[in-house]
Amino acid sequence: MAATDLERFSNEEKRNLSLGGHVGFDSLPDQLVSKSVAQGFSFNILCVGETGIGKSTLMNTLFNTTFETEEASHYEPAVRLRPRTYDLQESNVHLKLTIVDAVGFGDQINKDESYRPIVDYIDTQFENYLQEELKIRRSLFNYHDTRIHVCLYFITPTGHSLKSLDLVAMKKLDSKVNIIPIIAKADTISKSELHKFKIKIMSELVSNGVQIYQFPTDDEAVAEINSVMNAHLPFAVVGSIEEVKVGNKMVRARQYPWGVVQVENESHCDFVKLREMLIRVNMEDLREQTHTRHYELYRRCKLEEMGFKDTDPDSQPFSLQETYETKRKEFLCELQRKEEEMRQMFVNKVKETESELKEKERELHEKFEHLKRIHQEEKRKVEEKRRELEEEMNAFNRRKVAVETLQSQSLQATSQQPLKKDKDKKKVSKMNFCKPAIVGR
Ligand code: GTP
Ligand code: MG
Repeated sequence: MAATDLERFSNEEKRNLSLGGHVGFDSLPDQLVSKSVAQGFSFNILCVGETGIGKSTLMNTLFNTTFETEEASHYEPAVRLRPRTYDLQESNVHLKLTIVDAVGFGDQINKDESYRPIVDYIDTQFENYLQEELKIRRSLFNYHDTRIHVCLYFITPTGHSLKSLDLVAMKKLDSKVNIIPIIAKADTISKSELHKFKIKIMSELVSNGVQIYQFPTDDEAVAEINSVMNAHLPFAVVGSIEEVKVGNKMVRARQYPWGVVQVENESHCDFVKLREMLIRVNMEDLREQTHTRHYELYRRCKLEEMGFKDTDPDSQPFSLQETYETKRKEFLCELQRKEEEMRQMFVNKVKETESELKEKERELHEKFEHLKRIHQEEKRKVEEKRRELEEEMNAFNRRKVAVETLQSQSLQATSQQPLKKDKDKKKVSKMNFCKPAIVGR
């Protein structure tokens, strides 16, 4: 089809035609309903409030069951998010319910960063969803959507005003999640005080620019009830897992020495209003708002951060291909720059190591030469000593030979001595015979 034909076709007015008989596409909503029912639903609630404010009790009361819970201690070093998922069924509707507790909220001495783990948790769920959406093979149909659909913010029933921690936390969360503020343990505050407290809370939220979730009034079917309920915010609730006999009926209530507070009695607290608004009337709107408002904002910021835009500077539609190419080029340039940087670093390192090694080699060589000199000197000395010793040995040997010769000569001389003595004796006797004896004179 030529471009001009296409334009004409899209600019053409749509004409209303009447059908000759029943075709069947009026069953489309029913098809949608049965498909959704078969698929099941997921709903994720985040409970933020100080330790022991009644979060778990309210969840049990809201869903009329007992979820597994454990009491948090007051000594958590930081706020920690604890998600728990349950499969619930009512009639033929399956609900995958996740309750996320902000454990240790408000228990730290320094509460400056108390909101951060909560914000990070919400962002992580958005990020997981975005990653699934960006996959080539996505399976969003059976993806377990963990994005937080509503944050029940439990306000302590002080009767005074909101704490700065509440204001800061709600302000940080309001662009990321649907916040429904509730006054917890509303049975601990008197009726007139509660009335003033509600007004004070709302005026503080408005003056600090905190956007809480407003029940939608654009759908005629629920517009009236929702606008009435908006005026009742924040809901003052009471939770209980106890059943007390009132009249001849067992009801969820809290029993005190002075009377019974019935959870589902609208003149006692706003529990029923909360249940109506949260579960029976606006659950789908909360899910939708999460997707179309909060997730959309996250997705937009994230994609813009990644360099994607809808229009280029000349207001021309920005093509995904172009954005991808630009980003790819940027990435490659950056990669090359990093590679060059690393190569240069490596070369420098090698040079440094080389010169260090050369220096070490030179030192070793010097050491070796020095040792060699010492060794030669010692060798020379030893050689000299050896020569001296040899000379001494020769002299000694010569003396030894001389002594031995002398000894042998003297030995010879001693062995010839008696013979001579005999000769001498004979000589003497001969002389004595010849010579006249001069005896007795
Ligand atoms: P952690 O999970 O430990 O932070 O506590 P939590 O906020 O889940 O509070 P939990 O529901 O365990 O309740 C703590 C105490 O408060 C229990 O003794 C409850 O019976 C009591 N409690 C809960 N809801 C109410 C309420 O509406 N009014 C009053 N007066 N007490 C309540
Ligand atoms: Mg709890």
